[in-house]
Amino acid sequence: MEYLFIKKLHMILVITSISLFILRFYWALNQADMLRHQLIRSLPHIIDTLLLSAGIYLMISAKVWPTQHPWLGIKLICLIVYIGLGTFAIKRGKTQGNKLISGLGAISVFAYMAGLAFFKSPLWFLP
Ligand code: HEM
Repeated sequence: MEYLFIKKLHMILVITSISLFILRFYWALNQADMLRHQLIRSLPHIIDTLLLSAGIYLMISAKVWPTQHPWLGIKLICLIVYIGLGTFAIKRGKTQGNKLISGLGAISVFAYMAGLAFFKSPLWFLP
């Protein structure tokens, strides 16, 4: 019961997190002032911390370890790549082109992670 509740929460946080990222990415490309708003600077950290905490809760309670389940191990590696690309897309990218490529890469990696979680297979996109 509790597991299913946390799993739903995890999924809601996944959707919230990527929606916020896409909005910030759009603002970064347009050099919008909104990006510097205090709420927009802190909210993603809160959402992402809750998202990862829910994921860790699921991992521990279902006893699915990244060393035993390739989909989860790859998901965690992808998470690091996603965070790296995300910081270039929003903050560290020197040119708009740099930000664009990094942001599209981050969104693709995120979509791949969602596929990994749904299908529990690294090659889930193959027929
Ligand atoms: C610390 C990071 C994370 C850990 C340890 C983690 C772990 C887990 C675990 C153990 C499950 C449960 C699978 C099941 O019960 O069938 C799950 C489900 C899920 N995760 Fe994560 N997760 C993490 C981050 C993410 C991120 C960043 C995404 C974004 C794409 C994501 C997307 C999903 C989705 C969509 C599901 C539901 C899959 C289904 O319907 O079976 N997770 N996660």
